[in-house]
Amino acid sequence: MNNKTLAILKPDCVKKNLIGKVITQIQSAGFKVSALKMVKLTEDSAKGFYEIHKERPFFNDLIAYMTSGPCVPIALEKENAVEDFRKLIGATDPTKAAEGTIRKLYADSIQENIVHGSDSDENAAKEILHFFSRKELLDINGF
Ligand code: CMP
Repeated sequence: MNNKTLAILKPDCVKKNLIGKVITQIQSAGFKVSALKMVKLTEDSAKGFYEIHKERPFFNDLIAYMTSGPCVPIALEKENAVEDFRKLIGATDPTKAAEGTIRKLYADSIQENIVHGSDSDENAAKEILHFFSRKELLDINGF
């Protein structure tokens, strides 16, 4: 599977009223929206999603931020999806992100960085299933 990735428009994206602008940029870059919803993460769900970072010093702040308001997980499809999406969003730290990338354009800090993108095909599959049931994915597009 190298044609799927999970994006999350994070709580700062939703609060800044940037959902439409960011999705337009994603679609203009050739990504197809396979599934999308708006959810407010519970603490358990955020901790499960970011389990890989649980020993990092920023973990508690990250969980507080990700549960601070609704976010918009989106399952995306495109050839070479993981790599192309990470290029589109730019570096985690917006001060290091390339010009024109989503984080460079809209993010305020390394934590409040507007959007998440999966970092591997394996994680993309897991992350998509964190937010979307197999039935939902099947009902929508025969995933
Ligand atoms: P994301 O791509 O979703 O993956 C992990 C998240 O943790 C990251 O985006 C940021 O929101 C946050 N993060 C990563 N590194 C740091 C850091 N050094 N300080 C604070 N937050 C961070």
